[in-house]
This record gives sequence, structure tokens and C-alpha cells, in this order.
Amino acid sequence: MTASFSAAYRLDGANVTLVVEVIAGTPAVRYWGPRLPDDLALEELSALAARAEANASPAIEAPLAVTPQAGQGFPGRPGLAAHRGVGGRGGLDWASFALLVEVEQHADRLVFISRDDAHSIELVHELKISGDVLAARTGLVNRSVEALQVDHLAAPVIPLPGFVGQIIGFEGRWSGEFQLQRHQLSMGTWLRENRRGRTSHDAFPGLLACERDTNETRGLAYGFHLGWSGNHRLAVETLADGRRSVSMEALYLPGEITLAPSEGMETPTIYATVADDGLGAVSRQFHAYLRARFEHRRLRAKPRPVHYNSWEAVYFDHDTAKLMALAERAASVGVERFVLDDGWFGSRRSDRAGLGDWQVSPAVYPDGLGPLIGKVRSLGMEFGLWVEPEMVNPDSDLFRAHPEWVLGTPPAPQIPFRHQLVLDFGRAEVRERMYCDVAALLEEYPISYLKWDMNRDLSQPGGADGRAGATAHVNGLYEVLDRLRAAFPAVEIESCASGGGRADFGVLARTDRVWTSDSNDALDRLSIQRGFSYFFPAELMGAHVGPTRCHITGRILSMPLRVAAALFGHMGIEADLGELDAQETSDLAAGVALHKAHRDLIHSGALHRIDAAQGVNAFAVVAEDGSEALVSYTMIEEQRGYFAEPLRLAGLDPAAEYQLSVVWPPRLKAEWPLKDGGRFRGAALMQAGFQPPRLHPGTALILHLTR
Ligand code: GLA
Repeated sequence: MTASFSAAYRLDGANVTLVVEVIAGTPAVRYWGPRLPDDLALEELSALAARAEANASPAIEAPLAVTPQAGQGFPGRPGLAAHRGVGGRGGLDWASFALLVEVEQHADRLVFISRDDAHSIELVHELKISGDVLAARTGLVNRSVEALQVDHLAAPVIPLPGFVGQIIGFEGRWSGEFQLQRHQLSMGTWLRENRRGRTSHDAFPGLLACERDTNETRGLAYGFHLGWSGNHRLAVETLADGRRSVSMEALYLPGEITLAPSEGMETPTIYATVADDGLGAVSRQFHAYLRARFEHRRLRAKPRPVHYNSWEAVYFDHDTAKLMALAERAASVGVERFVLDDGWFGSRRSDRAGLGDWQVSPAVYPDGLGPLIGKVRSLGMEFGLWVEPEMVNPDSDLFRAHPEWVLGTPPAPQIPFRHQLVLDFGRAEVRERMYCDVAALLEEYPISYLKWDMNRDLSQPGGADGRAGATAHVNGLYEVLDRLRAAFPAVEIESCASGGGRADFGVLARTDRVWTSDSNDALDRLSIQRGFSYFFPAELMGAHVGPTRCHITGRILSMPLRVAAALFGHMGIEADLGELDAQETSDLAAGVALHKAHRDLIHSGALHRIDAAQGVNAFAVVAEDGSEALVSYTMIEEQRGYFAEPLRLAGLDPAAEYQLSVVWPPRLKAEWPLKDGGRFRGAALMQAGFQPPRLHPGTALILHLTR
């Protein structure tokens, strides 16, 4: 088939440009980077990139297409690995050779349709720029009368320039999510696979790429993220010919994806952005993108209510009188939404039983949840409820009735994991049951918020038909969440998976915030939240003031520090308020009031992480119009010298004069010439910076600047 096209297509954001060139009949990203001049002739880019034949190499380089193809002789990782069988044996049609047949150019979107008639497949690539974020997906259609077995299919593959030699990946663990790790690239592949079945604590599906000297404010920086809540594979490949690329895909277990005749599929979306002024700009562009999404805008109709969560105060020991007393204390320190965590239903008196039985426990709540909810609402708070619908304890009525509903790989015994098993959301009857159980609660009670939890890996995700069902589970989860959203649009949903094990743009298309981490240790939280902030804005980041002695790390941290860490997210409290002394209680109330006074700024402003000295955590949130800013400065460790380094701010209006005031902690003991404020020019604050006071480790300072 012959088709004629332009040589290249271009999309622009305010600060970014994408150029897709048709190379050897396939669409390939020629340029993805900071914005190019509008009148640039696109042929210049291919002329600049042209190279001669290398020694002992193919005479013509196979293109690094959006789907690099085996049938084109691409020497690296193909974007598609699929085959089909005839007469019981697979392996046919494996070397895809799809060529472009149609292009749609819209103002913000490009669609490339490629066909491979010899192997009966069609590829569809959709690339769309909103704001400064590229969102791209690959579609695959089986055009044969035989089924097509898909081993992997990458979202559109995006090249990185050879001089972008460093990547920053994210690693972590339960209660220690979103930790940055730098890697120097060399020839070969940096590969990150997640087989936990949920987004995971240890292999967040995102990475940053940059030049050696890139920091928060300077240098070329790229961000990539796969919006998918299941198994995934991230690869950054450097070929010996110097070409380098980022590829992201859902990871399919053997045989998981089979396309029937005429059936199609789509990859999860890869989100990408790029800036030439540092990693901070990459984050702000991701934040702006999420903030502009419909799902997010609906949230902003009202300020994010301050939460109280019952978990660390009562765990499974529910008692209406105690909870009502907590609700009273919560309301008195300024809480606006009371969330009843695990332990209210079925036989759930510990984590060993009851999951799956989503009926209010008559033993614990003889009159249902009505009295508690009535009390909460009479105190002027909304009510939220914890659920974990994807899971079942073997000791539950649901499991006794439907032992066949769980994922597993019999006869192998299931790896024990918090005494619970995963319900197979790939099965329609399971989805229906869980939808109905949750919907019944939302219909019966005035519940404004669901904390949707998910507390184990899909370790052996075999489905009912004996095939792997991890991908079907995630799609099933999305379907149930979408259905709940459609039926109960006013109910907000939190994505929790033992803390931050399910944070991604996919789940966030159907949920309203993430429980960032089970760790409420304020010092650990600062680094977890900093990592989280590379992709997600503050209003999506659940952040709670924990008990005096952190239940997870055992560390005792002051209330002013705990407040200072939680204040910069979607703030909440998760501690037994009866255990706080009078000083802590009044500091907490002051902290909640401070958050409320500034939450519009925190939840809409531009985040500027600051590259501060070792042992210091600092960032600023600056109003869109530069009119005000909040600066957070925390001393984590003792400094070597007598004084800490000056702190240079970022994002201010350089010409404007700002009035500086110390708004936190409530009692700053340190001697400090700036304690009583002063007026300073933005340029001076950004270029010279200010001398911070001498602070004990574990002390946080919050400054407010107004123009
Ligand atoms: C998970 C969550 C916690 C809490 C418990 C309840 O660990 O991350 O916040 O809800 O489950 O069992």
C-alpha cells in the first residue's frame, strides 16, 4: 500500500514541542524537548540528525519508531511483541511491519494509523499535548481471523538525546515510598519491572531524565510517567549507535492478552514533559496538567476539608462512645471530615477476619453507623468511610460462600499476606457484588468520602479459567471505580494501598487523593512527600499529623514539626487526640488554622523545591500571580558549621518587594534578626537568599511572604 504524508508533524505546548517524523514509513519522534521557534522548518531537524553509515552496521538504520518494530530490523527492544498460532502452534506473524496509512492532525493531537496487511495487524498511535504534558497511547487491532497473542505492547516510545545521560528512578518500601535514586546511563538497558499487581511501593512507574548538572532550577530535565495501576515495565535503552529511548508499558503475564479476531486494545497512557529550567519545572508542568483535568477541577469547587482518620487512635477497637469523643475533639481543633477507618464491618475485629463482609457489624454498632455519623455531622463535619473491596479474608462469610472468587494459582498454596486474598475483579460477578455492597453503604448513609484501600500484592494472580488475571483485575477495578463515580459523583474517593502503593495518573482519573504513606513520621514524611511532589500536586497528597510517638518509627517529634510536614498537603490528623497534652492540642489547632488560612495557596500555587544543604529540607509554594508565597525550611540534621547555608528562594517576582513574616512554629526560640520580618526584593531573596536561624534538628520554620 502506498500513502503520501507530510515528512513531519508538530505539536506545541506553551513550553514544549513534539515533532514526529515519518521515517521509513513509520512515525518516529524526531524531537521532544523545549519549545522550538514557530517558524522552524522541520526538515532542519532531520538534516541536523543525519548520519553516515557506521562500520559493521546496517546500511540503513531501522527507525526508532513510536513502536520500534522487529519487522523493520530495529536492533533494540521492539515496541510490540506478538504472534499468532495456527493448528495449535504459535510463533507466526511475530515480525510486525506496520506502515503508516493515515494521519490525523488536530490542533492538540496527532493520530497515526499504521497497517501491516501481511501480518494482519493495525497500530494506532495517539499523541496529545495539553498544557506542557504529552499524553500518548498505542492501540493495536487484530485484523486476522486468528487470535493474536500479545506479549508486550509499549506506549509510544520517546527518544532521549544522547547528552541526557542520567535518570532518576523512584524506589521505596511500605512507609518509605517515593525515594529518588540517580543512575548514570551507559550502553544497554535500565529496566524496572513491577510484578506486584498494584502500582507498588518499590517501583513507582515514573522516572526523570536529565543532564549531569541538572538540578531543581537549572538544566534540561524530562519527566515520564505511566498512568497504570498494575504490573509495569519501564525501560531506558541506549543502543551502541547512540540512540536512547524511554519505553513504558503494562507488563503482561504469559498469555494474559489475547486479541480475538477484530479485537483491539490500548496501552495505558505515557505522560511526558520536559523543561530546560530544571526538575522543578517538570513537576510544575505535571501539576498544572493534573490540575487542569476534569476529574481534578471538580475537586476544586471547595477547599480540601481537613481530615481526622481513626486508624492510629483506635485501630480495630471500635467503640461508639470513644469515637464520638474523638469526633468532638477533632471538631474542636478544626477538623472538617471524620474518616472511620478499618474495623467497622462484619467480623473485622482484627486483620484476620471479616474482609469481604461489607455490612456494619451489629456487635460493634448495634444501631448501625447512623448514630456516629449523626454525631459527626452535628459537629459540622463530613463523614468518610474506609473500605477494601478488592480483598477477602478466608475467615469471612463472603469467602465461605464463594471460595472460587479469589485469584490464585492452585495447587500452589497462596503466599500469606496480611491474612487476606485478592478477589478476582476480572470476574463480572465479583465486580457486581462489590459495586453493590459499596453502593448500598453510600445509599444508606450520608458518606462523602471513601478511603479505598488495597493491602496485598497480587502475588499469584491466576484467574478462574486458569489464566493470569492481573491486568484484568486492574481493568475491573477501574470499571468499578468508574461506575461508583458515575452513580455517586459527589463522593470523593481516596486511593490507598498500604499507604502510597497505588499512586498514578490512571487511578487518579477516578479518585481524588492518595494516601501518600502509612508513615506519619514527620521527618520521613518530608522526604516521601518531596518524592511524591515530582509528579503530584499537594492537594492530592494525604498528609496527617500523627501521634507524639510515631507508631511506625517509634520516633518522638514535636507537634510543630508534625504540623509543618502535614500542612503542605491535603492535611489531616491521625492520632488519639485524647493522648495529646494541652500544649500539643493548642499547637495542633493553631496548625490546622494556619493550614486553612493558606490552603488555597498550597493547593493551587507553584511548588519550588529548593536545593538546600545536606540535612535541610526546603521548598516554597508561590501564588500563580507571584503575590504571595509560603516557605518551608526544616532542619533535619545538625549542620557542620555554626550556621546553615543561606537559603535562596525561587519563583518570586524579582522586581516586587515582599513583606516577610514568620508564621510557624508558634514559639520560635531561636535568636534571629529576621524574626520580626522585614521587606525584601524578590531578586534579593532569590539571588542572595537569607540566612536561616540556628535551629535544632527536627525544627521547621514556615515563612509567609506577601507582595
Ligand atoms: C492500610 C492503610 C492504613 C489503614 C490500614 C487499615 O495499611 O494504609 O492507613 O487504613 O490499612 O487496615
